[in-house]
Amino acid sequence: MTEAELQALSGRLKPLPRHVGIIMDGNGRYATRRGLPRSMGHRAGTERLRGIIRLSSDLGIEALSLYAFSTENWKRPKPEVDTLFSIFMEYFIKEVDALHKNNVAIRAMGDIEALPEKVCRECLAAMEKTGSNTGLKLNIGLNYGGRAETLHAVKSIAGDIISGKLNIEDIDEGSMMQRLYTSGLPDVDLVIRTGGEKRLSNFMLLQSAYAELIFTDTLWPDFSDECYIAALEEFAHRNRRYGGLEGK
Ligand code: IPE
Ligand code: IPE
Ligand code: MG
Repeated sequence: MTEAELQALSGRLKPLPRHVGIIMDGNGRYATRRGLPRSMGHRAGTERLRGIIRLSSDLGIEALSLYAFSTENWKRPKPEVDTLFSIFMEYFIKEVDALHKNNVAIRAMGDIEALPEKVCRECLAAMEKTGSNTGLKLNIGLNYGGRAETLHAVKSIAGDIISGKLNIEDIDEGSMMQRLYTSGLPDVDLVIRTGGEKRLSNFMLLQSAYAELIFTDTLWPDFSDECYIAALEEFAHRNRRYGGLEGK
């Protein structure tokens, strides 16, 4: 896309969400429908990341949160879980330099310590390398669950109270939100879920309190740049009231 085309596009998509969350669902069905093993669907899904991240960054979206592996996905057969982890590791190894060149800051969202050591190490290396970049903030939900995240925040607040660092009266919504993995980021404005299911599956429950929700039947590996643009356009036309009467 030329600079002029990009300008025209971002004009058309105003107001843009500051923070987009994507539940990248449907990889397994994409593969099964083609008579392929589910792992091929996960690989095809990874191929879509480059375009969606690039477009988010070019449009000037501040933060993109991607749901890659939930705290509930451990229930899947071990071979599938292992394949997912090797795909994540390959992804970090292959893509981090390009993301770094694009000024993208990578952050893992979730309990990555519980992942296989090699995956955790690559993930930390990616965060370290790109951490001070000032462009798109890319949060990757790895072993992420909204409830586990909330529990982690509650424990950290309780610990600070016991040690005398914090008074109960000083806990407010802002300081509570700062204990989440998304500390310092704006609330999620738009959640997109591909793959046809109409649920959140434990994704960013607190950050999405007032997010607009878009559910599409398109399976994640088929979710093209055009599909993403269509979702952003739909968001631009939504009337957000936040409980008041005036839309904006
Ligand atoms: C999403 O695709 C990827 C992960 C949950 C890791 P699925 O693997 O859930 O694909 P479907 O829903 O079975 O098609
Ligand atoms: C949500 O998809 C998790 C990710 C996309 C990583 P799932 O396929 O795990 O969700 P359910 O089981 O259909 O709710
Ligand atoms: Mg699924």
